[in-house]
Amino acid sequence: MIKTPEVYALVTGGSKGIGKAIALALASRGNHLLLMARNEAELIQTAAEIREKYNVKIDIFAIDLTLADSAAQVFNWVEGKNYQVSILVNNAGFGAWGAFADLTLAAQMQMVDVNVSTLVKLCHLFTPMLKVQKAAYILNISSTAAYQALPTLAIYAASKSFVLSFSRAINYELRNTSVGVTCICPGPVETNFASRAGMNALDKMAQKFNMQPAEVAEMAVKAMFKRKTEVIPGFSNKIGAFAARLLAKRFLEKTAAGIYKV
Ligand SMILES: NC(=O)c1ccc[n+]([C@@H]2O[C@H](COP(=O)([O-])OP(=O)(O)OC[C@H]3O[C@@H](n4cnc5c(N)ncnc54)[C@H](OP(=O)(O)O)[C@@H]3O)[C@@H](O)[C@H]2O)c1
Repeated sequence: MIKTPEVYALVTGGSKGIGKAIALALASRGNHLLLMARNEAELIQTAAEIREKYNVKIDIFAIDLTLADSAAQVFNWVEGKNYQVSILVNNAGFGAWGAFADLTLAAQMQMVDVNVSTLVKLCHLFTPMLKVQKAAYILNISSTAAYQALPTLAIYAASKSFVLSFSRAINYELRNTSVGVTCICPGPVETNFASRAGMNALDKMAQKFNMQPAEVAEMAVKAMFKRKTEVIPGFSNKIGAFAARLLAKRFLEKTAAGIYKV
């Protein structure tokens, strides 16, 4: 007897932070999960936590998404296990805080690898599989950093502008298919992000504006299932993104440089 392949939601960076919250939001709706991140112990722990709450199947794959062939490795792993993916969540990503010329090129290129290159490769590799599902979704995690240049987070902000522009374009291209593409642009969220980016000094200020991962995840998943194109969670973040369209770029850059000064 031929076994029907199981259909899953694949979440990169699904071990903690926003990705873990998205995994929980998807599991609460009965979606089986494939979780990716580098730290295998954290993946095992997160999968156990989710299984305790929800009766869903979960598999994990520990992989470093900075690697040039990581997207192909993920795709081959999925095919090798005879899984089908109907939801692709490109959430893994990180920032590095500091002046472009002072940060190492290697660290900044790794940011481009995870935030941009691997995301693009995963979208390209999985789109044919997504297209054959009755209903399929790509959820890409950008940031409010997508809406303006950010001195001291130059590559991070540029990478997130790429994600937003790319997501909107492919969403349009796929409009007559079963695949919806949603881009979510959160402002500050209480996760490991700021600490990994080396932004601890900003923590106090950010705390005032921080949203919780669960709130952001719930909005993201709802928007994805409604096939919304672009979503900014939180009122103040929406205002900020709107203001960025109206105000002089030089003024925005000076203000951001004042807030994020190293
Ligand atoms: N928190 C915020 O304020 C904020 C705001 C706007 C947008 N975002 C975006 O939200 C997304 C999730 O970030 P977060 O805030 O939840 O940060 P987080 O708590 O640091 O979680 C990041 C996740 O991505 C994984 N990851 C990081 N580098 C990876 C790599 N090289 N290969 C594979 N997996 C990797 C991490 O696991 P491992 O470390 O084990 O690999 C972890 O699961 C990112 O794209 C970020 O840019 C965050």
